[in-house]
Amino acid sequence: MKLTLHVWRQRNAQDPGRLVTYPNVDVNPDMSFLEMLDVVNEGLIARGEDPIAFDHDCREGICGTCGMVINGVPHGPRRATTACQLHMRSFKDGDGIVIEPWRASAFPVLRDLVVDRGAFDRIVAAGGFISAPTGSAPDGNAIPVPKAAADEAMDAAACIGCGACVAACPNASAMLFTAAKVSHLGLLPQGQPERWDRVRKMVTQMDAEGFGTCTNHFECEAACPKEISVEFIARMNRDYTRSMLLNPAREPSKGDAG
Ligand code: SF4
Ligand code: FES
Repeated sequence: MKLTLHVWRQRNAQDPGRLVTYPNVDVNPDMSFLEMLDVVNEGLIARGEDPIAFDHDCREGICGTCGMVINGVPHGPRRATTACQLHMRSFKDGDGIVIEPWRASAFPVLRDLVVDRGAFDRIVAAGGFISAPTGSAPDGNAIPVPKAAADEAMDAAACIGCGACVAACPNASAMLFTAAKVSHLGLLPQGQPERWDRVRKMVTQMDAEGFGTCTNHFECEAACPKEISVEFIARMNRDYTRSMLLNPAREPSKGDAG
């Protein structure tokens, strides 16, 4: 296939950036999207030009680093598929493809398609953990977990922290990511001691990072490669409200609007 790529090129966070067109890119339909970018980069390097910077690690849909907007859609046209798992057979000979970084002020562009997703790390650091004394491994089944709770917690834990939910949302809200991280611990017995503190701290950090509020567009769920449900946002809001009732002295968060 021959494709024309329009790729966002930006030298650094200060550079205004622009779309650069690469015509007649020779593509094998069995390549993954990232392999196609590798081939483009080999050509750029051979011509003495800067390769296109993009994040990637596992290339198996696990690590969440390969975020990019492809023809206006985070991770591209296939539902429940990360950019690294997208194959070029999803496109047709002669197609033009516009490739851009995530667009959100909380995710500043560092270079080309690479954004700084440190805001997500800080949300997790604010409360996305349990505190437990370490020691020898406990007996299996020492803490009974209801099957339904285990299943729901696993659904939430499928979040890979890619940021597509933020990129898809017209408000650049991080509610789906934060809700998944709050819920996968809050559903399990081991997560109960810090449950109310956790939700407060993580929502407060989410607000401090400059993400927008949720106004129920549900674009996050549609873009999520792990199909995280917006039901988790409702769950987080219920937990957050309860945490406020338990400690009403705290200022409400703008995330309450979700
Ligand atoms: S909720 Fe989905 S889209 Fe958002 S960070 Fe997690 S995996 Fe990515
Ligand atoms: S490179 Fe790891 S999810 Fe795509």
